[in-house]
Amino acid sequence: MYGITIGDSGLKQTKALRSTVLAWQQLEIAPDRDRRARHFVARTDDGVTVGCASCGPAPFPDVAFDEHSSMRFWGVAVLAPYRGRGIGQALMRAVLARGSELAVDLVWANARKSALSFYTDLRFETVGDPFTDALSGLDDRRVVLHLTDANSRKWIHRVQ
Ligand SMILES: CC(C)(COP(=O)(O)OP(=O)(O)OC[C@H]1O[C@@H](n2cnc3c(N)ncnc32)[C@H](O)[C@@H]1OP(=O)(O)O)[C@@H](O)C(=O)NCCC(=O)NCCS
Repeated sequence: MYGITIGDSGLKQTKALRSTVLAWQQLEIAPDRDRRARHFVARTDDGVTVGCASCGPAPFPDVAFDEHSSMRFWGVAVLAPYRGRGIGQALMRAVLARGSELAVDLVWANARKSALSFYTDLRFETVGDPFTDALSGLDDRRVVLHLTDANSRKWIHRVQ
């Protein structure tokens, strides 16, 4: 990933990508306002923001995992010309590191159908029925990763 740096940023830096890449109806959502939320961006050496991902503590919405402490991530986006170079995965490593820091059991997201294999490659599992995401109007599925599961831990340790 030559010439790209992943760093912690403010919410503001994610908004242009949320708008252009994700086409969200609104650029800020409730979990953004949690002071424990983190916003990671990928920047070129010239300081151009080309990717982003946000995360923060949020209960899993369905009963299936409500006994777990959980972190949600959202707003994962990489500008089209920069895709396929490992930037998305690098952003997800930052997200998972934050999950470890918060010592949560479960990391979850509403993932668009078109990106499901990006997450399953990262060992996320798809759970529940498909639904329409209110922000994008697209078909989504929920994806989860158990951070406390021994196999996941071993794998996360390897990719970080
Ligand atoms: C999904 C997204 C963030 C991935 O970013 P990226 O920088 O291209 O991802 P990476 O280069 O780290 O790819 C990692 C792996 O996932 C695969 N992958 C990436 N995007 C994928 C997608 N949309 N569908 C399936 N597989 C994907 C890559 O082929 C790569 O596999 P490899 O290691 O075997 O080559 C990016 O494609 C994107 O912004 N898409 C549009 C917005 C979106 O769908 N965001 C997710 C919302 S839930």
